[in-house]
Amino acid sequence: MSKIRLGVLGGGGDSLIGVLHRVASNMYDRYEITGGVFNPNYEENIKFAKHIGVNTDRVYVDFDTFIEEEIKKPEGERIEVVSILTPNFLHFPMAKKLLENGFNVICEKPMTTSYAEAKELETLQKKHNAIFAVTYTYTGYPMVRHMKHMIAEGEIGAVQKVDIQYYQGWINPVIHDPEVRKTVWRLDPKKAGISSCIGDIGTHAFQMVEYLTGQEVKSVLADLNNLYEDNTLDIDGTILVRFSDTFKGVLRASQIATGEENNLTVAIYGTKGAYKWEQENPNFLYHLKDDEPRRVIKPGNAYVSDVAADGTKLPGGHPEGIFDAMGNIYKGVAKALRGETAFKGEFPTMHEGVRGMLFIEKVVESHKNGNIWQSMENE
Ligand SMILES: NC(=O)c1ccc[n+]([C@@H]2O[C@H](COP(=O)([O-])OP(=O)(O)OC[C@H]3O[C@@H](n4cnc5c(N)ncnc54)[C@H](O)[C@@H]3O)[C@@H](O)[C@H]2O)c1
Repeated sequence: MSKIRLGVLGGGGDSLIGVLHRVASNMYDRYEITGGVFNPNYEENIKFAKHIGVNTDRVYVDFDTFIEEEIKKPEGERIEVVSILTPNFLHFPMAKKLLENGFNVICEKPMTTSYAEAKELETLQKKHNAIFAVTYTYTGYPMVRHMKHMIAEGEIGAVQKVDIQYYQGWINPVIHDPEVRKTVWRLDPKKAGISSCIGDIGTHAFQMVEYLTGQEVKSVLADLNNLYEDNTLDIDGTILVRFSDTFKGVLRASQIATGEENNLTVAIYGTKGAYKWEQENPNFLYHLKDDEPRRVIKPGNAYVSDVAADGTKLPGGHPEGIFDAMGNIYKGVAKALRGETAFKGEFPTMHEGVRGMLFIEKVVESHKNGNIWQSMENE
């Protein structure tokens, strides 16, 4: 079967996330990086393309030229799907033009910088019947997929409480220096949107709880922290979430949790049991019960669900990690692009992208309005 022709926007040698997408797209031998714009500086762009072995004829000076040249090509040669790996503010204009010109899209999160933009993309995606993935990477982990499957099967009964934290400390050396903090795009509202921490990592936590429980958050109450008056975006926040009058939880996100690296920790409590999982130890899923010792569930074993087995390449005991999780998302998109049968929820879609933007807006509104409950319904 021919490989899927993949275009890449951003994700150059100077980026954080580019390598994750490149390795992930290559993992199941389904894609070939055919062209793109890796960097706004053309020399850097070409240098990087040569470094990773991409044909420089299809590495363009900018995004508009990318579209102009690619749509001239016959359908059998044209790039089929494009990954958008740039800072947040470029996601919307790029995704919009890609959809309008018939491309499928894999977009980094947060999908846009506002809910209105997200809704506009949703309308366009439906109109053009495009495949659109939003790379909430962590739902690609086999143990996360297993947990979702088991919760849906009723293994832990009715879910009654969620507690999810996403703690990092990386912004400490940046935020306490007034000059350094001006240089970081994640703290610039023009580039990041209306939130730093909640937009960057809180949205991962939000998508994770809705993905795992299969239920939607109905309202939020947020208390955010910007730490300094001249820092306009949040870098820490605690959010109460309500799914219903009897199912509630808390979502905590921080970039000033000193010493923390990428501590995404999930706990889902049901009437009959609970699951706990940590992103930094992703091959261990804990199943808790009131009246039995806790069990450890691990990938690559015959007892895991089909969706978890499908996302694991090696027998048990061979640790797989973040590259494999993103690889599973790319695999799901490849199945969709080639019309193959996929598991439900094999990659996060436009719907999750839109929900994420609604969440960010409602959280910021809740905080600004004096830490009050904000409904996420009827939008
Ligand atoms: N899914 C995840 O877990 C995860 C993790 C990190 C970042 N992200 C998201 O990925 C995106 C990029 O984040 P990052 O940390 O890699 O950013 P970064 O600043 O490290 O890299 C951005 C890249 O985009 C390129 N770029 C900038 N403007 C461009 C333009 N006009 N045309 C082409 N390329 C351009 C830069 O040269 C660079 O290569 C953000 O939206 C971020 O939220 C997601």
